[in-house]
Amino acid sequence: MKRSQALTLQLQERQPSELWLCLLGALTIALSGCGQGACASGCSTPAPTSTGQTSDPLAAAHAALKTMSLPRDAAPPMDRTNRFADDPRALSLGKKFFFETRFSGPLLDSANNGTTGTLGRVGETGKVACASCHSPQNASFSDTRSPRGQLSLGSGWTHRKAPSLLNVAQSQFLMWDGRRDSAFSQVFSPMESPLEFNSSRLFVAQQVYRLYRAEYEAIFGAMPALLDRYPVLAPAEAGCTSLPPDPMHATCAKPEHTSDEVTAVVVNVGKALQAYTRQLSCGRSRFDDWADGEEAAMTADEVAGAFVFAQKGACTACHTGPYFSDQRFHNVGVAGSLVPFTGVMTMNDPGAGFAAPLLLADPLNSRGKFSDGDDGRLDSLPPADKLEGAFKTPSLRCVSRRKTFMHNGAYRSLSDVIDFFDQGSAPGGFVGTSENFPRGLSQVEREQLLAFLRALDGEGPNPDLLTPPELPP
Ligand code: HEC
Ligand code: HEC
Repeated sequence: MKRSQALTLQLQERQPSELWLCLLGALTIALSGCGQGACASGCSTPAPTSTGQTSDPLAAAHAALKTMSLPRDAAPPMDRTNRFADDPRALSLGKKFFFETRFSGPLLDSANNGTTGTLGRVGETGKVACASCHSPQNASFSDTRSPRGQLSLGSGWTHRKAPSLLNVAQSQFLMWDGRRDSAFSQVFSPMESPLEFNSSRLFVAQQVYRLYRAEYEAIFGAMPALLDRYPVLAPAEAGCTSLPPDPMHATCAKPEHTSDEVTAVVVNVGKALQAYTRQLSCGRSRFDDWADGEEAAMTADEVAGAFVFAQKGACTACHTGPYFSDQRFHNVGVAGSLVPFTGVMTMNDPGAGFAAPLLLADPLNSRGKFSDGDDGRLDSLPPADKLEGAFKTPSLRCVSRRKTFMHNGAYRSLSDVIDFFDQGSAPGGFVGTSENFPRGLSQVEREQLLAFLRALDGEGPNPDLLTPPELPP
């Protein structure tokens, strides 16, 4: 096998004590291989090395890294829960919905004072869109806008960081905690949360009726008479009128307004939104060219970093497959949020341990009547007691475009994240049992790892997906 100079150097410099770690890394890769769901676009088994020495940890790591290359023609995997997922009319409508602010109710938190980064002043309506927190601005579809650059300010402060939507089509379980397992049901979260849109499904459905009826009906069929059969909601009464005591879990949906016919309209809004969001991708990076055999595509430091990632760092235990995520939930020992400006000092967020039972009981899940098909995804969900403090492994493609990292935005730079993984779990404590462990990386190795993570940047989504569309008056 041909190796770059950096690798040969790395091999020569390696201390005997490091070898077990390399072996551990290689073993982890072999065991984790292709996570289910993460390889929908096809994973190949590591090619046999020309030397035939399968016990060579470097060769094994190289082979494992090659399996993480993104195919040139990678398309989003089919999603049986949404039969409109690849309908171009749904994509076009979904893009409008993504940029539409008129589904949102009043801003509730006084942090909305009209200054830079806020969406308006407390009490104002029609200010929040999906694009407000998943911003197309730097093509990361993460939050680059909110004041203080950590958590997102919609109607109020969200208690978790808005994740990037690039490559979201690879995720069957959505949200940091997996609370939703279908993209159409996910939109109920921001729309009904008093911290985000502060709206309700009836108001959203009525706005679709007023603003998008013809385009909606051409795709999804006739709409119910939403303005005759139900009280007509004004924007100011779309959701809550003041922040409820537990705003993270509360909604102000009026019970009689959650009939199936109203819910079905918002489900279709979600299906259109998914037709758009599933096209958002980071694209191929220099890493992929390198993994496909173009040795000069990465610098010596970046190549060395790739091997730290696969070996001593053992990052591929979870960040595996062409999207650098096993799409599973892990407890890596991140400290509870310290977000004084939301009024919540420590959250001790139980993550998927809390969310899994809610998902199983959710009438909007992939098994429910609003889903167009059940592919059995819920069967793969581990029991809740195994998920205490666990969060979804984020994809690392285009990771350097994000402003903060982890579910709570606790780290503000990639170096901080690397230091965190190097040290093991957060020293001050965390919820549940962490899978993380100290790695003992040298300063040089940490820098190489950083260089490698930056080499995962791609060309981003098709520019047509970034420009705000013209919305109906
Ligand atoms: C006020 C900010 C805000 C707005 C507005 C918002 N989101 Fe989000 N979004 C978030 C946060 C925060 C999370 C993570 C929530 C969690 O894990 O509990 C999230 C998570 C998601 C996810 C899950 C991604 C993944 O990888 O699991 C999707 C998909 C998503 N949002 C789409 C949307 C869509 C579509 C809209 C518009 C209907 C929207 N969001 C509006 C903040 C926002
Ligand atoms: C045991 C599984 C596991 C291993 C091993 C692992 N990670 Fe992660 N990684 C995760 C999870 C889960 C999160 C999200 C944690 C959270 O938000 O609480 C994460 C978050 C991250 C993030 C932040 C991404 C974002 O969008 O916020 C980066 C960067 C990262 N990991 C890099 C690495 C590197 C580099 C290594 C190896 C040194 C590594 N990870 C090892 C599971 C893992």
